[in-house]
Amino acid sequence: MSTITVILPTYNEAGNIRSMLHALFARMASNHLDANVLVVDDTSPDGTGKIVEQEMLSQGRLHLLSGNKEGLGKAYMRGFEYALHTFSPDIIVMMDSDFSHDPSSIPALVAEIDKGADYVIGSRYTPGGAIPGDWPLKRIINSRIANFVAKTVGGIDPEVKDISGGFKAIRASKLEDVDWEGIETSGYAFQMHLLHTFMANDAVIKEVPITFVDRRMGQSKLRLGDILEFISVAYGLNPQSPLRQLMRFMAVGASGIIVNLGVLALLVNHTPLPIIVASAIAIEISILTNFLLHNRFTFQEVIEAEEGSVASRVRRSQTSRDFVGKLITFNVTSLGTAAMSLVIFALLHGLVGMYYLAAQFIGIISAFTLNYQISSRVIWKGKQHD
Ligand code: GDD
Ligand code: MN
Repeated sequence: MSTITVILPTYNEAGNIRSMLHALFARMASNHLDANVLVVDDTSPDGTGKIVEQEMLSQGRLHLLSGNKEGLGKAYMRGFEYALHTFSPDIIVMMDSDFSHDPSSIPALVAEIDKGADYVIGSRYTPGGAIPGDWPLKRIINSRIANFVAKTVGGIDPEVKDISGGFKAIRASKLEDVDWEGIETSGYAFQMHLLHTFMANDAVIKEVPITFVDRRMGQSKLRLGDILEFISVAYGLNPQSPLRQLMRFMAVGASGIIVNLGVLALLVNHTPLPIIVASAIAIEISILTNFLLHNRFTFQEVIEAEEGSVASRVRRSQTSRDFVGKLITFNVTSLGTAAMSLVIFALLHGLVGMYYLAAQFIGIISAFTLNYQISSRVIWKGKQHD
């Protein structure tokens, strides 16, 4: 039979922890599960730790790990390390200590690990799962947005329905493969970060429906800071996200404006070139610096993937042909979209009579958008779909 350690993080759960522990141990006994329970308490000012110490007097399999308040993610990481070293369990179960997660779902989660899964999520959003009928709209929206952000920004597999939930069973040996140094996520985003890490390690992920109920006593510890951290962690998890690519593309575009103006000033002040020629040269040079930066920075992953697939010398010369091809296409695209913005300006201002700044703005935005579309979909499309 598998040995289990249940980790219960607590912060100010004095109203819940005693009855939670009783419910938990009762469930373990009735299902004949071999389990230790580790409460990871951040020295709760409401005396949660004291209550756990009292319970330990009559419950030999109950343990307490106290620390400073550094957030839910940090508490879990401390708990994992301690549990792996102290109990060497086969399975670690993580759950909230406020009765939102029903101990009677534990056997179903654990059974999936015994059947071969590595990471089993107690899922509110998989068929059969549920959220509290009276959950405030704000929490429903928060939770839905968190899952949406995890998928769109964080690149988490959309097959996983409940990314942010905190009720899971994990194969302990797989936890030992995790590079904890690389996880700095301190708050609730830890749930997503851990899932991401397991997916990257090719773990078998499984979802089991659960009914999430509202906490019995006290209040949620989720803060605005946790939401902001969630978004920034999602962003950091996925270097290939279209959003990040677009931000890099814009940053490079901004650098091109500076190059353009700098070169123009240099030429006008230090050469006898006619100003219109100086302007043309400045435009061309900024297109070239934009190209080099896009190639090395904006679309870095695409280039690395292409180079990674180049095995022989024959293929390598293909790469330099690719480079020149990209350079020419980008140059033509940049000049073409710039010309397009001029045409849009002429039409909107000259023909329709639109205010000149608005006409220019629409021209620039259209040119930028088209340039980005051609760059990301044609020039640096990548070859992963070939
Ligand atoms: N040790 C420790 N340190 N425990 C903490 C901390 C902390 O900084 N913050 C929260 N906890 C404990 C709480 O005492 C509770 O047992 C559990 O972690 C979950 O905290 P809640 O404050 O009850 O979270 P929630 O109900 O808002 O959030 C639930 O849903 C989220 C997503 O929808 C939890 O299941 C989260 O894990 C989940 O991400
Ligand atoms: Mn809760």
